[in-house]
Amino acid sequence: MAEQYHEPAEELSQPTRTFARMIQSLIEEAEAINWYEQRISVEKDKEARAIMENAQKEEFIHFSMDLEFLLRKKDKWKTVAKNILFKAGDITENAEKAEDKIED
Ligand SMILES: [Fe+2]
Repeated sequence: MAEQYHEPAEELSQPTRTFARMIQSLIEEAEAINWYEQRISVEKDKEARAIMENAQKEEFIHFSMDLEFLLRKKDKWKTVAKNILFKAGDITENAEKAEDKIED
């Protein structure tokens, strides 16, 4: 099992443990997306490639569900995401604006 706790598990609250598990899931879904991307890029068999593309699409869904769950738990993260994701324009500039929004 991947090392998902960096503090003694017994000291972590149940919500923090759930958060850690969902973060780990997000990481694993991102890895799966990456692995399929690489496999698809080298696979010569068209049918095999179609299956992998279908599987990768599922991983996009899993990743997005994990992300949405996590964003709903963290207001600052949600605010940042709202100001960066699906926004036109320069990503770095949008990030700087997003940072201003969470400055206390
Ligand atoms: Fe998955």
